[in-house]
Formats: sequence, structure tokens, C-alpha cells
Amino acid sequence: MLTQQMPECGKLRVLVCVSGGGTNLQAIIDAKAAGRLKNADLVRVIANKPEAYALERAKKAGIEGVCVSPKDFPDREAFHRAFLAAVEEAAPDLIVLAGFLVVLPEEMISRYRNRIINIHPSLIPSFCGTGFYGLKVHEAALERGVKITGATVHFVDEGTDTGPIIMQKAVAVKEDDTPEVLQRRVMEEAEWILLPRAIELIAAGRVKTAAGQVCIEQEKELDEI
Ligand code: GAR
Repeated sequence: MLTQQMPECGKLRVLVCVSGGGTNLQAIIDAKAAGRLKNADLVRVIANKPEAYALERAKKAGIEGVCVSPKDFPDREAFHRAFLAAVEEAAPDLIVLAGFLVVLPEEMISRYRNRIINIHPSLIPSFCGTGFYGLKVHEAALERGVKITGATVHFVDEGTDTGPIIMQKAVAVKEDDTPEVLQRRVMEEAEWILLPRAIELIAAGRVKTAAGQVCIEQEKELDEI
């Protein structure tokens, strides 16, 4: 069994990677301000687009924001090198992909094995994998006519949305939902709750992985976090 708590003393250093509006980042910032992230500190936010509003949210919260855009590099390899350097500079214990729509370099995945988590806006293994991101996930769920959807927090491995599942929360689909309405409900009822909770559970050393499965210690006390 491997416990995902890293530092022996002090707080878990959390790096958040973002691509867009950053409402999940905001949920983490708010959880920290409300004292719900007792064992974690937000040390840096990295965006892959200079216009990502998430960078503004980081600035307002006094968190260092850095942009590493593929457009500023001649090829993917150079971008990956710069991205990895920006990650390493922050010396993170945990990397959180909060709406980060970039395929990570394999080197990073192996270097930070079981130390990268992602939030996905569906109940994996439904509506996930290549091509399923953001609003597209909700469009596909409505198209299929599911009555329940939700969100998943999982560890990141080499596949797309294939890593060990940490937490999931179900959300009801309503008859007159549009993709936008459903996206908002999944965020409000699932994503913004799950992500800070998963971070605190990892920071508190309560998340264990073995054989590709995650087990959370004392799950009955989850509501405290
Ligand atoms: C969120 O719904 C997140 O789950 C999704 O992108 C959105 C980002 O919103 N991520 C994916 O689809 C990853 N496959 P935000 O920038 O407001 O947090």
C-alpha cells in the first residue's frame, strides 16, 4: 500500500494547472480561505493560455501565476521542457489538473506517479477519454439520454482518464437540461465539492493506492472535510 502523503512535516505543496475559467481553482482557493484545506498550501498556478481567467483568480488570491503557452515554443518538445521546468521550480508534492486541457509529457507522469490528480466532469468510465472534455462531455451525456451523471477525481496515468479513481459524485440530469445548464449543476453539486476534498484527504495521508485501486481511510468521516 502506498500512501499519497508526501512531506514528513509542513503542508502539502499544491500546484494547480488550468486552461480556462478556473472555477475549480476558485473552489480550492475558497476551501483554503475557509480553513477546509488544513494540510495543504497552494504554491503556484500554471496556465497554458495567457488569457485564462484562472490566472486572474490566482492573482487575486495572492498565488503565483505562470503562463507556459505552446505558442511560445518552436515544437512540442520545447514546450514540454519549459512546462516541466515551471512545474519543478514550484517543488510540488501534488499537482492538480483543474480543467487543464493539455496532454502531459510522459516523463512528468512517471516522475510524479500518484502525485497528479485530475477532475473530470462525468462518472468515469462514462463519457471520458480522448475528445471528451468540458462542454463536450455534457453534450454527449444528454445525447445518450443518461439520467445520472456526475464528476470524478482520479490519479493521472499514461492513458486519458484511465488512472485510479479517488472519488466520484453523482448528479441528476433533468429533462430540460441544456449542456450549459448541466455543466453548471455538475460543477456546483460535484466538482467544486470533490476537488478540495480530495486534496485535503491526500494531504492528510488518508488516500492509499494498491493495484490500481484507491482506498480512503475512515471514509465515514468525509463530511468533516
Ligand atoms: C471542468 O468542468 C472540468 O471538470 C473540465 O473542464 C472544466 C474546467 O472548468 N475538465 C475536463 O473536461 C478534463 N477532461 P473550470 O476552468 O471553470 O474549472
